[in-house]
Amino acid sequence: MSSWKIKKMSGHCGARLEGVSLSNASNSDLEEMRSALFEYGIIVMPDQNLNPEDHLKLAKFFGPIDVNRFFTPVATYPMIAEVRTSAEQSEVIGGTWHTDHSYDVAPAMCSILSARQLPPHGGDTHFASMSAAYKALSPGLKKMLSSLRAWHSDSSFSESNVGLENNPDAFRDPVLHPVIIKHPVTSEPCVYVNGDFTTHFENWSIEESSALLSYLYVFVTQPIFTTRVVWEPGMVTIWDNRLVQHYATADYSGHERLMHRITVEGVPLESV
Ligand code: SIN
Repeated sequence: MSSWKIKKMSGHCGARLEGVSLSNASNSDLEEMRSALFEYGIIVMPDQNLNPEDHLKLAKFFGPIDVNRFFTPVATYPMIAEVRTSAEQSEVIGGTWHTDHSYDVAPAMCSILSARQLPPHGGDTHFASMSAAYKALSPGLKKMLSSLRAWHSDSSFSESNVGLENNPDAFRDPVLHPVIIKHPVTSEPCVYVNGDFTTHFENWSIEESSALLSYLYVFVTQPIFTTRVVWEPGMVTIWDNRLVQHYATADYSGHERLMHRITVEGVPLESV
């Protein structure tokens, strides 16, 4: 008998889970939540009001924590990253479609975002299903993309102007991932290129890659593949970075927003 009430948010990704307090959830509640994450790609749980200790405990249920080397840590909690927008900022962290940590050899499996301070309006987060996008590609393009790998790099952080840590030692060499990955748990095929970190296809020039990559970025983020999280105080959202990309909306200028984010270690990605 399930303790969660689960309601789908849109046709291709997202579910709202209510009825369990994460800070004292049973193991079977947590396992059911993890299954929902793999089924829906992104799950939102309102009214959780996690403190940092509860947030860390929740993350460790999924696996070891993968500390982001570019984000400012929360004071006294070095494993939790701050996603902060000040009232003076017009750009926000994550304000373009992207996949967290795709520049790593073993990219983070999931990200857990906990609302701490919300603006009076806006600041929603959009998610797009990469498995639905893959399914909608033509057989010809599926076949071609399945034979390719692409380079991912953290170099875009060097131009960032959104209050991230200024740490030149954080940068690493680019890494290669398959363009179509097999989800490590469900084996579902997912498109795995994103506008923030993918630079070009293996053995293709940047110029040659850019037309096809631009086409893919528009294709995979079509509204039909998306869902939108309208944040509520105390809400927690978890997304699987292999199943969805996300986009934070910068539409609350003049107001502050603070979220706490933990990313959980993933595994090297394999092709279909
Ligand atoms: C992120 O890209 O991880 C931040 C998402 C958000 O702040 O809504």
